[in-house]
Amino acid sequence: MKSREAIPGTMPRGGKQAADELARRVSPETVIRCDEPLAKHTTLRVGGPADLYVEPASDSDLKEVVACCREHAWPMFILGRGSNLLVKDGGFRGAVICLSHAHFSRVTVEGDRLNCGAGARVKMVSATARRHSLAGLEFLDGIPGSVGGALRMNAGSMGGSMFDLVESVRLMGLDGQVYERMGRDLEPQYRGCPLLKTQIALSAVLRGHPGSSEAIGQRMNEYNQKRWQSQPAAPSAGCIFKNPTSLSAGQLIDELGLKGMRVGGAVVAAEHANFIVNGGGATAGDMLELIEVIRRRVRAERAIDLEMEVEVVGE
Ligand code: EPU
Repeated sequence: MKSREAIPGTMPRGGKQAADELARRVSPETVIRCDEPLAKHTTLRVGGPADLYVEPASDSDLKEVVACCREHAWPMFILGRGSNLLVKDGGFRGAVICLSHAHFSRVTVEGDRLNCGAGARVKMVSATARRHSLAGLEFLDGIPGSVGGALRMNAGSMGGSMFDLVESVRLMGLDGQVYERMGRDLEPQYRGCPLLKTQIALSAVLRGHPGSSEAIGQRMNEYNQKRWQSQPAAPSAGCIFKNPTSLSAGQLIDELGLKGMRVGGAVVAAEHANFIVNGGGATAGDMLELIEVIRRRVRAERAIDLEMEVEVVGE
């Protein structure tokens, strides 16, 4: 999951000075690291370091981190589980903020509503729904990211998308104000929620409906089986491109015979042509070059401009 607010400014290289200042302003529970390799925070396993990496331990610490970045005009980036993200090899000059602390990762249930922290794994949400016999969330089981990332991307699978389930979202603005909005007022789109580029989702209330946990489990198994058969197990960032209107980007790339095409360690997956996998030792440069090759071929042979679904950050 991810939302991004890139404010132009420069962070002192390596982040040490920024980390020291931040440490004075937040509670000791907040994790602060300098020069943090982002490859280990993304499912693609590529990308350089972030000058500053922060896991705030509370709403007030998050507010302080955001305030500090704003005061210094440091670029910031909200990182989810890194499952839809391509970080460039030079890394990120600024602060990467990850809401994976337990404070932001809770899932609680009240009747047919699930209150889900932005840092909770989407998979944990579907498992909790199943345990409480709440149906309608089965499709979430195959989405690898965090709740925050799934909101930002309006992530989807098996015909369902995140915002189909969202009743309301708690947000923090860049002024540190916390407020709540109904899901529909956030104007979600296919694979995106532009408002979450400038606002940080803290949690969301999702709604299910009563069902039998056995039937829910069965549907999850069916979906998972379908996914295992049609999608690669190797490290990837899910689908690279958005589907052009009424077309499958995967089918399109497949028809051009590009499965198996490779640049360095980046390979068009044999199982699904809209996935580029890290076949071992790939760099972000390999990924980006392969993406460009595919785009050029699709433009030349089908006159279609493929739009990226995966978010590219860094330098
Ligand atoms: N197809 C091919 N060759 C391929 C890939 C697909 O011929 O290499 C054909 C399939 O056989 C099928 C059609 O294309 O007839 C559609 O394929 P699929 O069912 O896999 O759906 P998709 O449109 O390619 C979308 C989402 C996936 C989601 C699946 C399943 C997008 C960009 N992709 O893929 O989401 O998992 O449906 O619900 O919307 C993601 O967003 O990261 C993602 C993986």
